[in-house]
Amino acid sequence: MLNESSVQNVPPQQTSGFTVPDNIQPILDKSCLPCHGTDGTSKAKMKWNYEKMKSMKTSKMVGKLSKIASKVEKGKMPTKKFNEKYPDKQLTTDEKKALIDWARNYAGELAGE
Ligand code: HEC
Repeated sequence: MLNESSVQNVPPQQTSGFTVPDNIQPILDKSCLPCHGTDGTSKAKMKWNYEKMKSMKTSKMVGKLSKIASKVEKGKMPTKKFNEKYPDKQLTTDEKKALIDWARNYAGELAGE
């Protein structure tokens, strides 16, 4: 576990142990953070705020990661409107798979499975 003093020595992205691999970050940047990031929409941020992942309790994080996987798997996220408005930002089949695998594996890891 990280304590207050060690937090100051790690890059901001890692404060709560929340890290995003290099292959996933660009996908989130492109298709999710426009709504769920710092400058996102308030409604989206209420439900899932990327920034808050950094300070989220592990148990809550596991839940959010599972939701991310299932929303993406069911094609509910990004929203239909977003996909229509920004066809170039839609998830490709490979990106979808990578995102789902990451969220599922990460949730499993945190849950100690
Ligand atoms: C166009 C804006 C927009 C984009 C882009 C978007 N979302 Fe969302 N998202 C929302 C809104 C609005 C909600 C809340 C309403 C709802 O649950 O349908 C939401 C809800 C969610 C939830 C539910 C959280 C909870 O605890 O109920 C998750 C998880 C989620 N989004 C993940 C993602 C992921 C992953 C991506 C990228 C692949 C993404 N979203 C892209 C707007 C967006």
